[in-house]
Amino acid sequence: MLGSSRLIKQCLPKTTPRCWTTSRRCLYSTKKPAIQPSPKTFTWKSAVVLGMTAAGLLVYFEKEKERIRLLREKRERDKIRALGRPSIGGKFELFNANEGKVTSTDELKGKFWMVYFGFTHCPDICPEELDKMAEVVDSVKSEFGEGVLVPVFITCDPMRDTPEVVKEYVKDFHPDLIGFTGDKDKLKKVARSFRVYAYTPPDASPEADYLVDHSIFFYLMDPEGNFIDCYARDTTSEEVLSSFKNYMQDYLQDGGKLPYSHIK
Ligand code: NI
Repeated sequence: MLGSSRLIKQCLPKTTPRCWTTSRRCLYSTKKPAIQPSPKTFTWKSAVVLGMTAAGLLVYFEKEKERIRLLREKRERDKIRALGRPSIGGKFELFNANEGKVTSTDELKGKFWMVYFGFTHCPDICPEELDKMAEVVDSVKSEFGEGVLVPVFITCDPMRDTPEVVKEYVKDFHPDLIGFTGDKDKLKKVARSFRVYAYTPPDASPEADYLVDHSIFFYLMDPEGNFIDCYARDTTSEEVLSSFKNYMQDYLQDGGKLPYSHIK
C-alpha cells in the first residue's frame, strides 16, 4: 500500500505539467492560421453557387418525395385490387348535393360509375384527378352515349364541404359529376368500405386553412354496383378509358345489359 502511493506522487509532477504544456503549444500552433477569417471567401459568386446548390437539392428532394408517394399509391392500389370485388364498396346513402336530398347507390343502378374521394379545398391533386375522370367520362359519352359512365365525388371533409360548397365545386369539373356529402360518421363508414384513408388534423375548424390527407384513387363500379377496378395517379386518362372499354366489353359479353341501344 505504502509503496504504490509513493509511486503516484512521484509520477504526477513529472508527467502532468509536461503533457499539459505540450498540448497547449500544439493547439496554439495549429489553430492560429485557421481562425484567421478571410473576408474575400464570401463573395457574390459563392452566394449564387450556394443558392443554386440549395435550389437543386430542393428540387431533388421534392422529386424524390413525389416518386415515393407515387410508389406508395401504386402499392396501395395493388392491395385494393388484390382484395377483390366483394371487399370493396357496397351500397350507401349520402346527401346528394346536386339534388339537395339524400340518395343512394340505387340511383346509379344500370350504369357504370366512377367514384373519387377528396375535398374541395385540395390545392392540386383532387382537381387533377377529377379533371382526368371528367376526360374519361367525356370520351365514353362521345363514343357510347349519355349516362353509360357516371362520375361521382364523395367528400372526406364534411366540416367545410357543405352541400352548397360541394354543389358549386362539382360544376367546375363536369356537368354530370354527382357530389356527395353527409355527416362525419356516415362519410367515414363509406370511405372505409372503399378502403379509403382520410386524415383531418385534430385542431381543424371550419374557418381554418387545413389539408386533409387522403387516398388518391378513383374506383370503377359496374352497373350492379360491384367494384371492378381502381386507378391511381400513374394511370393516364387514355389508359383508364381503354381499361374501361375492356371491362364494358366483358360485361356485355357476359350478358350484362345497358339501357342504350347503340351499345352492341
Ligand atoms: Ni386532394
